[in-house]
Amino acid sequence: MADKLLSRYEELKAQVNLHNYRYHVLDAPIISDLEYDRLLNELKGIESAHPEWIKSDSPTQRAGARPADRFDKIRHPASILSLANAFGGDDARAWLERISKIDDRVEKAKFVVEPKIDGLSVVLHYRDGMFVQGATRGDGEVGEDITSNLRTIRAIPLRIPVQTVDDRPKTEKPSTVHRPPSYLVVRGEAFLPIKEFDELNRKLEEAGEKTYLNPRNTAAGSLRQLDPQLTASRPLTLLVYQIIHSEGGKVPTSQWEILEYLKALGFPVTDVAKRFNDLDSAIAYTETWNEGRDKLPYEADGMVIKIDDLTLAAELGFVGKDPRGAIAFKFPAREVTTTLNDIGVAVGRTGVLTPYAILQPVEIGGVVVERATLHNFDFIAEKDIRVGDRVLIKRAGEVIPYVIGPVVDARSGKEKTYKPPTKCPACGQAVEHFEGEVAWYCVNAACPAQLVRNIEHFVSRGAMDIVGLGIKIVEQLIESGLVKDVADLFTLKKEQLLELEGFADKKAENLLKSLEQAKAQSLNRLIAALGIHGVGEVMAGDLSRAFGDLSALSNTNAEELQQMEGLGPNIAESIVDWFSQPANQKLLKKLKAANVWPIAKKDEKKKDGALTGFTFVVTGTLPTLSRDGVKEFIEQNGGKVTDSVSKKTSYLVLGENPGSKAEKAQALGVKIINEAELRKLANG
Ligand code: IVH
Repeated sequence: MADKLLSRYEELKAQVNLHNYRYHVLDAPIISDLEYDRLLNELKGIESAHPEWIKSDSPTQRAGARPADRFDKIRHPASILSLANAFGGDDARAWLERISKIDDRVEKAKFVVEPKIDGLSVVLHYRDGMFVQGATRGDGEVGEDITSNLRTIRAIPLRIPVQTVDDRPKTEKPSTVHRPPSYLVVRGEAFLPIKEFDELNRKLEEAGEKTYLNPRNTAAGSLRQLDPQLTASRPLTLLVYQIIHSEGGKVPTSQWEILEYLKALGFPVTDVAKRFNDLDSAIAYTETWNEGRDKLPYEADGMVIKIDDLTLAAELGFVGKDPRGAIAFKFPAREVTTTLNDIGVAVGRTGVLTPYAILQPVEIGGVVVERATLHNFDFIAEKDIRVGDRVLIKRAGEVIPYVIGPVVDARSGKEKTYKPPTKCPACGQAVEHFEGEVAWYCVNAACPAQLVRNIEHFVSRGAMDIVGLGIKIVEQLIESGLVKDVADLFTLKKEQLLELEGFADKKAENLLKSLEQAKAQSLNRLIAALGIHGVGEVMAGDLSRAFGDLSALSNTNAEELQQMEGLGPNIAESIVDWFSQPANQKLLKKLKAANVWPIAKKDEKKKDGALTGFTFVVTGTLPTLSRDGVKEFIEQNGGKVTDSVSKKTSYLVLGENPGSKAEKAQALGVKIINEAELRKLANG
């Protein structure tokens, strides 16, 4: 019986590891997320019955324990070398000429061209196929032990070769013919893909938090976090390109074969590498990437040209830390200086005000740049950026151009210190600041810059759930002047709708019907729909139960609100502030007049259970439970769910791609658990 279960366990482990590989390395999944979750759950079920079976290659063991208060040092088995630069074809040909004089075999050499990823060099150690240790480059001789953090990167195989249990044709499978050397040390570049970087910054900006400056800094910071849970929350990945050391087994002796070999073992390897018979063709290929670099999903600052024959390359030796057998062919720089003519302010989705640079137009890598992001007002103050300054601008990949800082030496004395606006540039209302956040907000629900997005949020599924009111129609309604705030939706007439393009009888009737139905939505949905800063669905439920209707909530004060569990001074202030805005009071009156005024039962009793007395915050996507599902699960077991992490939070339940809550939880010393651990708690 146990034998059978053990072999099922081994099979599941191999399957989950394989699907991980298909998803994170090949970018070609063959099963749905749901099927994957099922396998993972079955695996977790077996592990909770047999914890003695768990080894470090289990996919459940990626985010492990946090190390002490610093990283240990690791001596690399061989030097982790750097590269000399070439700035163009002539430089590269001069390199070839130099090394041809040292060894005439160079004249017949082949070359491999690979992207030079602007990330972080990492060194991965495998013993008997198991990932046992990982380090930063450090000074090239000694790096830091960041094993626990690297384990969270799903593209890193925990065991090689990645086992194949699927039915793909043999040619597509990572080959199992190679038995890796008993000790294998490889090197790769860890990085944050540009898309993920933008997404991370978007989330941070929405939460009013500091955004990151560029993907490389973010990746570096993420890998040097002491808590692997935090690293796990950053979608880092890597590409492997070098074997640093091997014992007990043969490895190829040409760079091209090394790439193939690493790929066959299940490592992520670049798919834009090419081999050439002469340097001129290699240079020509490299130059095509000067223009094509934006197509790469990561930041690359050049291409690396390597002599394919690694024995020859090694014999050529090195100059300082730079091997003679390879060269970094750098792309033209994308940093320039220009004059900062003015600073503009944009109003974002949640009312966040974001400053941007209005520049003397300047060309960077073939693109004329007139605007660049300035991140937030603190950034301008910290860097002491003044209007009229010469500023250094960088454009990298598809990342929006950003200001690096002022050129202080170029100042004439006429530059002006910048003061953040006190009024919203779009609607003129006073702007607000919430404690603990860097951002400034416009909190006027009727601000034209936010109106489309406010209405979008108001009608969305988690809020008033008004079907048939997509963004296009919302835009039409605003443009035609029919809708100036969300309350106007409920007084729309059929004749008015028929005048809009694309509206016939049926469509107009359907929309009016769903608006009529929405009037019956519960108070908690309406509160959530108002888009009060810091009030999500969970908090809206609590407010709805505590106050019963919108007038009571509107008449409350910050002290009273803070009596509620999970509601701190910042959110209390934000709620009171929202209701004190004349524009918002007007909105409430209109809603009441339109009969959108739900009443809730006050203080509904909650159940008792194993989680009674504990307060939870959930962040990220959980393996099986949905947003509503996890809330229901916790509440049914007597627990309480709140929106934001505070000292009163008992546990943070962490899923994939979480927001900034994990960092806050860590800062406050709140325990972080996953879904499986939550279930364990609930089961006593
Ligand atoms: S080869 C002898 N290949 O660039 C091997 N380096 O400026 C020397 N890098 O520290 C390195 N992509 O972190 C090599 N495909 C690639 C690379 C690469 C990025 C980084 C690496 C190195 C730096 C040198």
